[in-house]
Amino acid sequence: MNQVHICEVGPRDGLQNAHQMMPTEAKKEWISALAAAGLKEIEVGSFVPPKLIPAMADTDQVVKHALSIPGLKVMALAPNVKGFERAVAAGAHKVGFPVSASRAHSESNVRMTPEQMVEQVRRCAEMGGAEIEGAVATAFGCTIQGAVPEDDVVRIAVALAEFCDCVALADTVGYANPAQVKRIFRRVRNEIGEKLEGAHFHNTRGLGIANALAAYEEGVRSFDSSMGGLGGCPFAPGASGNVITEDLVFMFESMGVRTGIDLEKLFEARKVLVKGLPGEPIYGHISEAGLPKGFRVGGINTSA
Ligand code: COA
Ligand code: ZN
Repeated sequence: MNQVHICEVGPRDGLQNAHQMMPTEAKKEWISALAAAGLKEIEVGSFVPPKLIPAMADTDQVVKHALSIPGLKVMALAPNVKGFERAVAAGAHKVGFPVSASRAHSESNVRMTPEQMVEQVRRCAEMGGAEIEGAVATAFGCTIQGAVPEDDVVRIAVALAEFCDCVALADTVGYANPAQVKRIFRRVRNEIGEKLEGAHFHNTRGLGIANALAAYEEGVRSFDSSMGGLGGCPFAPGASGNVITEDLVFMFESMGVRTGIDLEKLFEARKVLVKGLPGEPIYGHISEAGLPKGFRVGGINTSA
């Protein structure tokens, strides 16, 4: 049976860029509702300086809550060794590091060159304590630098694969197109094989779901997405929301590719999000339009 794994990144990628702060209790309720819908992995926050991103200041409490949900893989982002130490102390199962292929974005986002950032991740991998994902950020272009040479993406992915448990490619600013996605995933897979796991797409220019499908066709089986299409990097001008979880789940399920996620329960989780973040624009096609008549999980029933 064809299956994909979806990691919900809304509580991190979404809330770091939201106009308002979601209260800690509302975050907990949302994460519980997401897990109840069948999400097995959630990126629940980031361990960055609270002064820099106040919306992430409560991540240790949010991790603690998420750890109480049976079977849930709890992921958090860290930008450096200090963030990794905080994540491990909180008990996060997996820690993701954004390593930009664009030098300009790297300096804007983490005040380090890509090479310095790779060294931070290497030190964390040596320390151990959590699974480590190296995410090559701005892998398809950058709003500060412009084009990002593919050779730079491959070089960073190869460096990260040496000590990370898994590597992801991220379209931080929504510049990717499906042909480019296929080409770059293939190039990186040729270099690092199965270590290349995740695809992280933003929908800024409307191609998020097309890019996810292109990656699927190229053999990718692990995707990040965000409920309601929230998201964006505050240090990448013009970045906006991720691929919409609800629509991504619908696309895969209607193709007969199993996600393990219950769409009706996902719509319930969406209500929890809307309640916790009133006034925030929340996107999504399938939740607005409703499921097609005759839809059943695992594919549209065409036998009737
Ligand atoms: N968590 C909490 N505090 C941290 C920290 C962390 N992960 N890393 C550094 N700090 C503290 C330091 O202890 C220091 O505190 P002090 O002023 O009280 O001494 C202060 O922050 C500055 O530390 P420094 O190492 O000089 O960091 P910096 O100012 O050069 O910033 C990063 C570097 C990486 C910490 C910052 O750029 C960052 O967090 N970037 C990530 C941004 C992000 O989340 N982007 C979106 C996701 S892609
Ligand atoms: Zn992102």
